[in-house]
Order: sequence, then C-alpha cells, then structure tokens
Amino acid sequence: MIKAVVFDAYGTLYDIQSVAAVTEEAFPGYGDIITQIWRIKQLEYTWLRSLMMRYEDFSTITRDSLTYTLRVLGLEHDSGVFERIMDKYLHLELYQDAMSALGAMRNRKLAILSNGSSAMLDALVRNSGLNRVLDATISVDTRKMFKPAPDAYSLIEAVIGVAPAEVLFISSNPWDVCGAKAFGLNVAWIERVMPEAIALACVNSELVSPLTMFKAIRTQMDELGLEPDYRIHALTELPALVAAHES
Ligand code: LAC
Repeated sequence: MIKAVVFDAYGTLYDIQSVAAVTEEAFPGYGDIITQIWRIKQLEYTWLRSLMMRYEDFSTITRDSLTYTLRVLGLEHDSGVFERIMDKYLHLELYQDAMSALGAMRNRKLAILSNGSSAMLDALVRNSGLNRVLDATISVDTRKMFKPAPDAYSLIEAVIGVAPAEVLFISSNPWDVCGAKAFGLNVAWIERVMPEAIALACVNSELVSPLTMFKAIRTQMDELGLEPDYRIHALTELPALVAAHES
C-alpha cells in the first residue's frame, strides 16, 4: 500500500532547462553551454561538499556553480545580471504534467524531498502554486547532507511519518533513483529522455550540443547495480500506478 508519493524537485517536477531562456538573454549564444555546465557543477558540488563534510546549502552551491560557469567561459557580468539569472531558480517552469498528476492523487500524502534549501524550495513551490496540493516540502537542510546519502532520504519518514515501504519516490535523475532504491523506497524513474534521441542527436550533427552532452551523462540509468521498480514517461501515469499498487 502506497501512503505517500514523494517527488524530487529539480528536473522532475520543475524543468531546470527552463533557465536557458534567461542565460541566453543575458549572454546571447552562450545560453545552452551556461545552462549545462551550471547544472553539472551544481550537482558535483553537492556530492563534493557531502564527502568533504563541508555542507553549504543549495542556494550557496547554486551561486558558486554559476560563478564557476561564468568564469570558465570568460563572461564578464555585473551583479544585476548574476542576480537575474539566479532568480530564475525561484521561478522555474513546472513540467506540464505535474499539476494534474498531483491533483489526481490528493488521497495520498504528497511531498517533495529535494536537495534545494528550504528558502529556495518554499519560494519555488509558492510561485508555481504547488503549495496548494503538497502536504510537505522537505529540504535536506536539516540533515546537512545531500541526496543520495541515506540520511537525506530518511527525512521522509521523520517529517511525514510514512515508512519507506509505503512511500513511492519519483525522480528523473538516475543518481537519485539509485540513492532512493539503495535506501529502501519504492521508486519510479521518470525517463524524460530516450537513449535513441541522444544517439540520433550525435549522429545527425558534426558538433554535439551541450544539451545533448548533458543528456548523455545525466539521463540514462546509472551503472550502480540498482534498478527502479517502475519506469514511466509522464507524471500522468502515476495515479494509475499508485492505485494498482493496492492489490
Ligand atoms: C533535487 C535535485 C538536486 O533534489 O534534483 O531536487
């Protein structure tokens, strides 16, 4: 019996690629490369800081990784431009399938478990209207340890009181799927990018775009010896999946 449906935020409910419009506007011609390096370094810093036991919240990490990105590309900027780009993280676009899928599962506890800081997540959830359907927005902040550390996933039971065996966790991020499985949650992987699309994009152009490169390294299931319980292609498949889990 699934009593709670818990979502990753960035890349799962919210489209992190939607920052590309803002990065392109700020630095014409560089939008894609900024967007991809920024996300790659952002995730890298969460894992590095966890391993080094030098936690800084996701807001700081998101700033530091943007600083790294603009520096490595040699892009001069003033603080106004920097803050405008950062602000997009509080106004990311919701994936189209998110609101209706969540709305159809109001008979379960619904929550987010994210590496995002409490302040970032609260603003994002409020700005996108998801606060109307979520029972909890859980940040790893209180544990000072990022997913995929087990301590981070244990926050679900600590905050909403539902045991791992009764939680369905959904993420598009393969590393997060593996972490959640290793911890003992039921896990659905939302496969937003099919491998064939990546292969085709490589074959059909002489230059592989930063977005294709990002998809190649961050969207195929990782070789960590762990598999999701379910693979879905849209969040709208979830209500039926959760209902079927009853029997
Ligand atoms: C999340 C990111 C890191 O935890 O995808 O929401």
